Amino acid sequence: MNRNEESPALKALVGVLIFLVFAGFYFYLAPYVSDGVGDGQADRQTGSMSSGQATSAEVSPASSEDQTQPSAVDKSSEYLTLVNKTHGLNRAYEPDDLRTVRATAKDREAEYQKLRKAAAKAFNDLTAGAKEAGCTIKLTTGYRPYSYQKVLYKQYIDMDGKEKAEQYSAKPGYSEHQTGLSADVSSPSVGYQLVRKYGRTKAGTWLAENGHRYGFIIRYPKGKESITGYEYEPWHIRYVGKEAAAEIYERQLTLEEYLGES
Ligand code: DAL
Ligand code: ZN
Repeated sequence: MNRNEESPALKALVGVLIFLVFAGFYFYLAPYVSDGVGDGQADRQTGSMSSGQATSAEVSPASSEDQTQPSAVDKSSEYLTLVNKTHGLNRAYEPDDLRTVRATAKDREAEYQKLRKAAAKAFNDLTAGAKEAGCTIKLTTGYRPYSYQKVLYKQYIDMDGKEKAEQYSAKPGYSEHQTGLSADVSSPSVGYQLVRKYGRTKAGTWLAENGHRYGFIIRYPKGKESITGYEYEPWHIRYVGKEAAAEIYERQLTLEEYLGES
């Protein structure tokens, strides 16, 4: 074959290669370049009750783009178990690695102040980090068995009626506290109570902005009530592991959105 015969085939090959390079850029790299929300352009949730307008990231469900962003995190991790109003646990489920944490509010029952081993260790690190930042954060309640959630749920329904109670209390078998990965926390500035204004305190703000560094997320953020099914709870944190927590924090997602279950 001489050079004139080879030339058209070569040109076609070069053309195909150039197309593949551009197509590769478009499908694999363009999402990183153009995704504003992922870059943290939306305001961070500060936990403030009176901050006025919610940001678009706070009020709208995440786009499918948010939910499908590439992630190195193994979503089938035992620390990413989803428990909510539609994903329950067997009533007999009890983690076999519960541990007592160091910082506990003393006026609550010690029996319910445990977390799973990894979460307990991370919680001890979190409270030490908070202390360095000048904040005292203590666990009020961690793991709750089905039986205790049943008592609480009934108490709240008797007090507030079913519709209102279900905005803040899970049915037995549907509480994340039964996983041993959730903690209700509080601080001296609010008398260790679980109140919305905790989100506006120094400790509550520190928690919202730094919890992910220890593997925790604010599980029921303000503005995401229609996705989580619960009112804003600045005191309820959930251990998901550091990598997942960082992604959830940066992208302003709920666990439902992160797992593609919203
Ligand atoms: N307060 C949360 C939703 C629970 O009862 O598990
Ligand atoms: Zn809670």
